[in-house]
Amino acid sequence: MILFDEKNSIFKIDTVNTSYVMGLADEMYLGHVYYGDKLQSTDLTYLLGLEVNPFTPEQKPGEKVSFMDCFPMEYPTKGLGDFRESCLSVKRMNGQEQTELVYKSHVIYKGKQTLEGLPSTWGEDSETLEIMLADEITGIQVTLLYSVFDGIDAVIKSVRVKNTAAEPVFLTKVLSGSLDIRPGSYETLSLHGSWARERHMSRTPIGYGSMGIETCRGISGHQENPFLAVVSEGTTQNTGEVYAMNFVYSSNFMVKVQKNQFDHIRAVMGIHPENFSWKLSAGEVFTAPEVVMVYSGSGLGRMTQTYHDLYRNHLIRSAWKDKMRPVLINNWEATYFNFDTNKLLDIARSAKAHGIEMLVMDDGWFGHRESDNSSLGDWFVNESKIQGGLKYLADEIHNIGLKFGIWFEPEMISPDSELYRLHPEWALRCEGREPGQARNQLVLDLTRPETAEYIYNSIAAILKSAAIEYVKWDMNRPLSDIGSSYLPADQQGEIMHRQMLAVYGMQERLLKDFPELLLENCSGGGARFDPGMLYYSPQFWCSDDTDAVERLIIQEGTQLIYPLSTIGAHVSDCPNHTTGRVTPFSTRGDVALSGTFGYELDITKISQSDRDEIPGQIDKFKKFNPLVLSGDYFRIASYQENHDYDCYQIVSKDKKKSFVTYVQVHAKPNAKKKYLRLQGLVPDGLYQIGEDIYLGDTLMKAGIPVPVIFGDYRSMIIELNLVDSRF
Ligand code: DGJ
Repeated sequence: MILFDEKNSIFKIDTVNTSYVMGLADEMYLGHVYYGDKLQSTDLTYLLGLEVNPFTPEQKPGEKVSFMDCFPMEYPTKGLGDFRESCLSVKRMNGQEQTELVYKSHVIYKGKQTLEGLPSTWGEDSETLEIMLADEITGIQVTLLYSVFDGIDAVIKSVRVKNTAAEPVFLTKVLSGSLDIRPGSYETLSLHGSWARERHMSRTPIGYGSMGIETCRGISGHQENPFLAVVSEGTTQNTGEVYAMNFVYSSNFMVKVQKNQFDHIRAVMGIHPENFSWKLSAGEVFTAPEVVMVYSGSGLGRMTQTYHDLYRNHLIRSAWKDKMRPVLINNWEATYFNFDTNKLLDIARSAKAHGIEMLVMDDGWFGHRESDNSSLGDWFVNESKIQGGLKYLADEIHNIGLKFGIWFEPEMISPDSELYRLHPEWALRCEGREPGQARNQLVLDLTRPETAEYIYNSIAAILKSAAIEYVKWDMNRPLSDIGSSYLPADQQGEIMHRQMLAVYGMQERLLKDFPELLLENCSGGGARFDPGMLYYSPQFWCSDDTDAVERLIIQEGTQLIYPLSTIGAHVSDCPNHTTGRVTPFSTRGDVALSGTFGYELDITKISQSDRDEIPGQIDKFKKFNPLVLSGDYFRIASYQENHDYDCYQIVSKDKKKSFVTYVQVHAKPNAKKKYLRLQGLVPDGLYQIGEDIYLGDTLMKAGIPVPVIFGDYRSMIIELNLVDSRF
């Protein structure tokens, strides 16, 4: 519920368990009052700290700078006395950048608007507050949008900036949100990584000054995910305060966290200002992407469940979002570029015989691509490899009884391609410089409408030319050489954002034109695993590292925020292609169960005993996937923390079914006994595990002992079924 208490000049946004409160100072500045466990009263103006602030401009005219220096501004700007992190910079034609925002009006309404051209949360069971602030001198209007959904402890923020003046202005910084947090001992929690090592959880104590995470690569990136939580020191799964922010955007972002002279913490998040400048002509509006804020007063577990529920119900739109996905086999690790029609059909036949449901043809089917140094942009089938053509292959695969999927990398162009020979100006490049290559490729300038149109039409033509049920949309290099021969000089700063909008636009069209298509996003593994992409696709390839042990850490970090149903996870062959590690086939299967599940191997070449395990793994997937799609996720133990074993549990929403995945990474002789304390069960419920019956309360408080397992990398799945409830 959202309300405005006129007497106290207080805005209060309530979710089931939290309150987000803002208030107006006498001068009509909008201040942040409180974010935390739910409050009953709106008599909260005293929390703005105005009484203790001796510099209030009303009382002491002229002392505005001293006031600004400590006022907890809800949407801070720079240059007039607030020396902390700011959210907005507007450069006028006179070169000056100061903006002073004061409250003008607000509106509260049922529902929530989607953001045009941008991914955003959606749903009718929602409520929105729009607060309009304005600066008289520049004519800039800033509308802060706050939305909440019934039953979900998240506050979604975004910002609209309008130029009401006659002259254009240049927005050089438009962040999506700021949060002031009271003094305390806090740490940041973020998801850090690299290629094949994405989203490792990382904690850093917050000291004085500024710190944060960012990317300027034009993809959210392997290195940092657009997520950061300020957590009280020592926060665990079930204890501690968590202020989390996740950005619904897939390109450059910045999160800055600052501890100031009064030990107050300010965290801001938004589009990275580097390389960003947006020309806003008279009457135009710029919309900044959404930040999803989650507060939990009882540790990380609740934050995780909130994000999972929100994203499953109010972000992902695909027709597939709640459906069990077909068990697929992807030929990348099986063949790399070395395949043809016969090879794919051999794989398909064996896959079908073992219960697999879809074949995905990865990179290498188009142009004259035999390695990664050619043909991106030439989206026509290479008939010397795909003998008989694409339709023939798709038909044969369907005749075998499998669905068919295909790989694209639409945002790229190879210097060795027909397209590049025809249109070198379609690549991003700066005047007078040869653009730099990465993975032997350049980035298309998608700010140029005819380029985006051509690429979209090429993909659509392929999808119409054969029965294709699935697309893997890949993106394998960061953006550099940020120059466009299409945009004028004063709009070159718009390239990075416009490029992202163009990608979103293409994926939006795919959704509309092919509503049944199962779209998987991918970026050199998981470099663009962010809420922005999930708006368009219900799943994301999580990492090029398919090693079961590495995946424990990667998937733990990913599951911290993103629903299990979105996590692309496959069983691959060993020795693992990235780490060289050999793990049991069964462990690889158990680890992939908490994701989309599939295979990434040459089924015609693996050992007979591995092959024989596949039907049983698929049965397990079918049994447990309904819980993965909609259940609550609980982290029981973390291999990243204990360097020994990993354990997580998934419980159906009605608490009747659950399964626990336990992986012993290292075998220890005469090891100390481990007990798994389960979570999320009915305390008075009787649960059957194997032949035995346990009380939920006992399982959660005393736990179950882990049997001694012989050997490294061993896993087990514990299944629980509620058989009776005592009351
Ligand atoms: C990177 C992806 O993550 C891989 O799965 C594969 O599709 C390759 N690109 C193909 O180039």
